Amino acid sequence: MKKIITVDGPAGSGKEKISRYIARKYKLYHLDSGLLYRRLAYELEKKNIKTFQVSKIKSAIKNFKKLSLRKAKMLRKEQIGKAASEIAKIDFVRDFINSQQRLATKAPNKKKGFIIDGRDIGSVVFKKASLKLYIDVDVNIRAKRRYKQLIDNGEKSIYLNILKDIKLRDKTDKTRINSPLVVPKGAKIIDNSHTFKNTIAQIRNIIEGIN
Ligand code: CDP
Repeated sequence: MKKIITVDGPAGSGKEKISRYIARKYKLYHLDSGLLYRRLAYELEKKNIKTFQVSKIKSAIKNFKKLSLRKAKMLRKEQIGKAASEIAKIDFVRDFINSQQRLATKAPNKKKGFIIDGRDIGSVVFKKASLKLYIDVDVNIRAKRRYKQLIDNGEKSIYLNILKDIKLRDKTDKTRINSPLVVPKGAKIIDNSHTFKNTIAQIRNIIEGIN
């Protein structure tokens, strides 16, 4: 099996940017598991299925064979993120997304391995990964960054609402019964509160230190 690096951390911690950087630098294939939860939330919304309509979600999932991994701006909307977090509490949804991730790691590609980011990648989905990273950033810094990102995307936002939403998302992700967000056993912690240059230095120390 090819090498797998997992990246977990809370909402807005910069997992995606960090994973993209690592993928480019070390020639790995980047798989964003959050994107799959967002894609599923989007597909359900298109079918007018609400996040609490559990049996409707179950039958809809039966008809989805392979979820698209394509990044799209509409998937980054705050409302889709919230819906993704809601459906992510359901155990059969998690099973479905996990099987989609395993499928993706089995598909052939020319890269040396995978970098997969999410909430439970090192703790549940790929427990045997060669390296596990956990990204940590103070909640106020995360809210400021998310606010800027939404404004830059042209989405009208109020900072205090974003802060409230991120705190709620943290609570939902950390306290759910199925695969709550935790620091995986053996994970190396990266503090992404400062400049990206500082974060890169921490990453290189870890990855090049173990190679
Ligand atoms: O970008 P952000 O960190 O806000 O979220 P994301 O990684 O795009 O994921 C959206 C939501 O999906 C998260 O808030 C989680 O509730 C859920 N998720 C999860 O439960 N497990 C994962 N492996 C990835 C995402």
